[in-house]
Amino acid sequence: MRTQVAIIGAGPAGLLLSHLLTRGGVDSVVLETRSQEYVASRIRAGILEQSSVDLLTEVGLGDRLRAEGDEHRGIYLNFAGERHHLDFVDLTGRTVWVYGQTEVQKDLVAAGTADVRYEVTEVALHDVESDKPYVTYLDADGVAQRLDAGAIAGCDGSFGPSRQAVPSEHFERVYPYSWLGILADVGPSTDELIYAWHPNGFALHSMRSPTVSRLYLQVPNGTDPASWSDERIWEELAVRLGHGQDGWKLTPGPITDKSVLPMRSYVQTPMRHGRVFLAGDAAHIVPPTGAKGLNLAIADVTLLSKALVDWLRAGDSTAADAYSDDALRRVWRCTHFSWWMTTMLHTSGDPFDAQLQLSQLRWVTSSNAGATGLAENYAGLPIGF
Ligand code: APR
Ligand code: PHB
Repeated sequence: MRTQVAIIGAGPAGLLLSHLLTRGGVDSVVLETRSQEYVASRIRAGILEQSSVDLLTEVGLGDRLRAEGDEHRGIYLNFAGERHHLDFVDLTGRTVWVYGQTEVQKDLVAAGTADVRYEVTEVALHDVESDKPYVTYLDADGVAQRLDAGAIAGCDGSFGPSRQAVPSEHFERVYPYSWLGILADVGPSTDELIYAWHPNGFALHSMRSPTVSRLYLQVPNGTDPASWSDERIWEELAVRLGHGQDGWKLTPGPITDKSVLPMRSYVQTPMRHGRVFLAGDAAHIVPPTGAKGLNLAIADVTLLSKALVDWLRAGDSTAADAYSDDALRRVWRCTHFSWWMTTMLHTSGDPFDAQLQLSQLRWVTSSNAGATGLAENYAGLPIGF
């Protein structure tokens, strides 16, 4: 089998890349180890930056997002018994949208633009330094297949084979805490997200819809989610998020999912080797505190699709040659922002750190310059930054 771009991984990066390539007149085949049902139901982050929403709208994927998504003007920061609102519209003129990654994934599948082969195994990349790279795999029936391509896009997340095909340097930071995340069948107790600093640890109140909330608690690494009863989770969320503060109440509800997420930062550089290009989690991981994972994947494939269309349709490799450097500028900006939000909000147990965090939180909530810096990064820099 032959295609112009062999895409490995049908997460948001792989599916959106395929959609953008189709629109640009370049054909692709997507190889995915999991089933379509599994990929469509994974619970992931839920915040889209303005530039991600604009891009999705521009390429025909914005209808349900705009109808069912929830546009937010900003976020709340809660610390030292006070709640502060950061208004991104006033500060930067931009908003963010609450719309689950699961929903973005469904919209991409519904668009029907990607030719996806689900439940493949033993995916391997070959001859990536030549101008005739190819991928071998076993299809869902266990039959050996070979896919020849002009380029390979590694969109297979942090555990896929593409990352290994790119000999490169990587930078990594593992954090000494994790998030215990819950989904609950209860309407959000807040109109916008609350990020809370508390001596007991960080907490976040997020949401998925008018009837479903998503909340997180900082917990030690290695925590077993089963060791936290539903009652204890709600009690701790109430304490950290400021239940009772100025009459605010956290309304508990039935918990439908409970999991622990480790936190790390990881950047692989360069993001290209020969004819393999990495995008999304295959190239970088950010801790979830800045809500950047999905947005970075969208920014990568926006650049990559243009580069591959120029190269494979018009023979112009300028953008393909610049892809890694162009993508990494934004990746490092988001890596810094995610690290900064994470270290500002999570307690380390060191009293000196705690005082620095509180001072920084006071600065971002009382200085226009401090607030604008956070807002500009959170609401997202324009694509191409
Ligand atoms: N062959 C084919 N597909 C693979 C392989 C493999 N060997 N290994 C992994 N995959 C698939 C995974 O099953 C998954 O569907 O690659 C896909 C990678 O998708 P994601 O992990 O969703 O990564 P990405 O598309 O880059 O999206 C980034 O996902 O993790 C979040 O926070 C992150 O929101 C961000 C987004
Ligand atoms: C989420 O809704 O899952 C979410 C929101 C904001 C974050 C991280 C996760 O920073």
